[in-house]
Parts: sequence; C-alpha cells; structure tokens
Amino acid sequence: MRVPFVAGNWKLNKTPTEAVELALELRRLVSSVRGVEIAIAPTAVCIVPVAKKLEESNVKVAAQNVFWESGGAYTGELSAAMLKDAGAEYVIIGHSERRTYFGETDETVAKRVRAALDADLKVIVCIGETLPQRDSGKFLDVVGSQLIGGLAKVAADEAAELVIAYEPVWAIGTGRTASPEQAQEVHAYIRGKLVERFDAQTAAAIRIQYGGSVKGSNAAELMSQPDIDGALVGGASLEANSFADIIRASRPQ
Ligand code: PGA
Repeated sequence: MRVPFVAGNWKLNKTPTEAVELALELRRLVSSVRGVEIAIAPTAVCIVPVAKKLEESNVKVAAQNVFWESGGAYTGELSAAMLKDAGAEYVIIGHSERRTYFGETDETVAKRVRAALDADLKVIVCIGETLPQRDSGKFLDVVGSQLIGGLAKVAADEAAELVIAYEPVWAIGTGRTASPEQAQEVHAYIRGKLVERFDAQTAAAIRIQYGGSVKGSNAAELMSQPDIDGALVGGASLEANSFADIIRASRPQ
C-alpha cells in the first residue's frame, strides 16, 4: 500500500517570518491527520527556521532545488548535505519552472538526483509535457524520456523511495487541471516505464504525485485514481486552510 504524499511547493514566496507563520498554522491544522505524508517546500533561506518549528510534527520539509557538487567554488549554489543538515528531508528536482527559466535538462536532473540520494535526501522528480507536446499527441513519449533521463543514475535497490511528480506544464498555475482520466493515463504509463526500468515490486512502491492546479475541490477525485498517490501543490499551498483541505481530501478512502 502506498501512503499518499502531499507536498506544497511554495516557489518564490514568503519571507522567513511569513514562512514560519504559515508553517505553524499548517502544523496546527493537520496535526491530527493520519494516513497521509505531508511536506512543504519553502525557499532555501526559510528551511532552517521552518524545520525548527516543525520538529516533532507530521509536516516534513523539502528543498526546491539542489546542486550536484558537494562543495567548492560554485557561488550561489547549495549542496545536498547542506540542505539535509538545514532540516530538509526531501528535495524537488526538475520542476518545469527550472526547466523553462533556468536551463534544467534531463542530464542536470540526473546529476542532482544522484547527489541528493548520496546525501540521504529523498527526491521528488518532476516531469510533464507542455501544451504543444500534448496537442502533438506525443506527450507519453515526452514524459517517458524525461523519466528515464532523470533517473539515469538511480539503482534499482534505491528506487523504491523515489517520488515522481507528473505535472503537465499546461496545468501549472493556470487553473486548468488535467481530468482524473487524463492524469491516470499518464500515471499508469509512468508506472509501466518504472516496471521496465526497475522491476514490478519497486515500481509498485514508488509514489507518483499529480501536480497542476490541485485544489480542495478536485483533490479527492484525482486521488481516487489507482496510480495517483498524492499531489504536488503550488498556489493552493500558500494558504494553510486550502492546503489542509487538499491534505484531508487525500486521505485513503
Ligand atoms: P499549481 O503549481 O498548483 O500552482 O498549479 C503546481 C506546481 O508547480 O508544483
């Protein structure tokens, strides 16, 4: 049985003061929720204070990116060991905004994934097609090659704890969610690729989140699909009540 995993990606929002306030409010709202793994991804500068406030709670902390080198002359970058020591348990890698605005490729995703796993950080690897790619009918190929490329340096015996986030780019921040059937089609395809890449047992353990305009009102229907194991939430995670609604709607039925 895969435990649903709901993560909030705060992107470039919230000062450290605001982030601590939001984290505390969320902690209070979801303290009694069972059966769902919960994480929030504040900006890197907020990881230390937020992680401190979430100690001994059921809300984990994720980073939004990680560099692949462990140290040295790389001004502005953060290593996996630094993020881990700061309080992060997970790191989001290869988000479409990083691919679009910061030149992220499947190769750099693979390097970041390797560095994170080496530092004992768990990874959320994001994949998803653009609207032209969906309209071309080739979206499964696009998603499949992002998946295989991004996981190029992962061994089968460390794969069960991977988290994949399927986020169609046309659904991110647009208010236009993939229908549960559209999402399930791609999630099932991803699961099949994971069987080929690793093995059936490992693929059955890997959580595949859906991301793209998830709200309290559409979460339960998405989560009811057999291969949707949680959500990666942007906009609706910036307000404690709306994120808590999604978390509650993701509890196993
Ligand atoms: P959204 O963002 O929920 O605001 O669409 C999702 C994401 O980018 O992870």
